[in-house]
Amino acid sequence: MANTKQFRGMTCHRLGNSGLWVSEVGLGLWKWGYPEYDKSRVGEYFGFQILDRALELGVFHWDTANSYNAGAANSERLLGSYFSKRPQTVRDQVMLATKVSNNSREEYELGPYPQNPDRFTPNQSGGSRLYLMNEVERCLQRMCVDHIDLLYLHSPDTWDDSGEWITPLEETWSTMDDLVTQGKVRYLAVSNHSAAQAQQVMDVLDQVGKDASRNVVAIENCYSLAERSNVASDDEGDEQAFLDFCKKRNLSIVPFFPLAGGLLTGRYTKRNLDTVEGRLTSEAIGPRFLTDERLKLAGRVARMAKEKGCSPAQLAIAWLLKRPQVASVIAGVTKMEHLEDNVGAINVTLSHDAMAKLDKASR
Ligand SMILES: NC(=O)c1ccc[n+]([C@@H]2O[C@H](COP(=O)([O-])OP(=O)(O)OC[C@H]3O[C@@H](n4cnc5c(N)ncnc54)[C@H](OP(=O)(O)O)[C@@H]3O)[C@@H](O)[C@H]2O)c1
Repeated sequence: MANTKQFRGMTCHRLGNSGLWVSEVGLGLWKWGYPEYDKSRVGEYFGFQILDRALELGVFHWDTANSYNAGAANSERLLGSYFSKRPQTVRDQVMLATKVSNNSREEYELGPYPQNPDRFTPNQSGGSRLYLMNEVERCLQRMCVDHIDLLYLHSPDTWDDSGEWITPLEETWSTMDDLVTQGKVRYLAVSNHSAAQAQQVMDVLDQVGKDASRNVVAIENCYSLAERSNVASDDEGDEQAFLDFCKKRNLSIVPFFPLAGGLLTGRYTKRNLDTVEGRLTSEAIGPRFLTDERLKLAGRVARMAKEKGCSPAQLAIAWLLKRPQVASVIAGVTKMEHLEDNVGAINVTLSHDAMAKLDKASR
């Protein structure tokens, strides 16, 4: 029995054991918003053109969050502006994923996030019923939609030091489930959760969910050739154990930072760091990725891509799509060329030998 469908030449996979389909190349909208206010990298003018083209290319899985960009919720606002200027048929094609648990500012504001920690009460983030219900309303208003297709709990609502849950899981997940019952959300997911945390969430949802169909269908964790162990989202960093867990629980993986913020596109080399323009040379996450070791890996990926006749980004995305349980790769794009390049990953076939070579290079 086939497990995939096609849309405009794009292969689509189901999330978990649900009936929800995603395009295997998706679109990450973290750096989208209103550049004059929030230092985002894509604004409405080019953003709308990229969104139109994404659908033409079959890229209908779009990923945002209430806290993008710079905590100002402007990525959601940009989407709201887009949907309100397009016919309903466009909204109907998009599989719209957003996330809550962080606080989000309600106006266009410039400044680091959170600009003023005293600005938010403890009720304006986390996993409480009060926060979740309020924030989902705000998401719907900002995006000008009447429902969210996939809602992630962005981060586990735990104390930093002990890892214990702050809000009882029953409260968080019965509220998430109620949001589905109310028709505001269609499917549920987690992000930045370890296997153990996801397991606890699934167990609780089994108890408090309305029926057996109320599952966690996806987990969005950091995963790329440059940061393989991060996918486990815990101190052990056991990639294989995490993949095995997801397989056993039928949980789809949606990797974030799939291109390591741009490192795996071949754009950055040790020699050009003083001159190259990009997120990694202009934003705080740069030093995390621009280490000697990672630049060496990026060089190896670029050479292998050249041998295969594809781009480094395509190779990095194709590798992820061959990993078990990975359903969709939501690389962030800031230019039309990025989108068109990344979609080309669907034509890259990786032999056993090529996978082994990439495996070795990335260990
Ligand atoms: N759940 C979470 O906690 C979490 C955390 C982070 C991200 N995310 C999600 O995951 C998505 C993807 O992560 P990300 O956008 O941060 O990082 P990423 O996908 O690893 O890297 C995106 C960057 O790579 C560059 N790029 C993309 N395609 C390219 C191409 N074909 N050629 C050359 N450069 C290319 C662009 O850099 P320039 O901007 O420099 O041009 C782009 O901003 C986000 O947009 C967001 O939706 C989720």
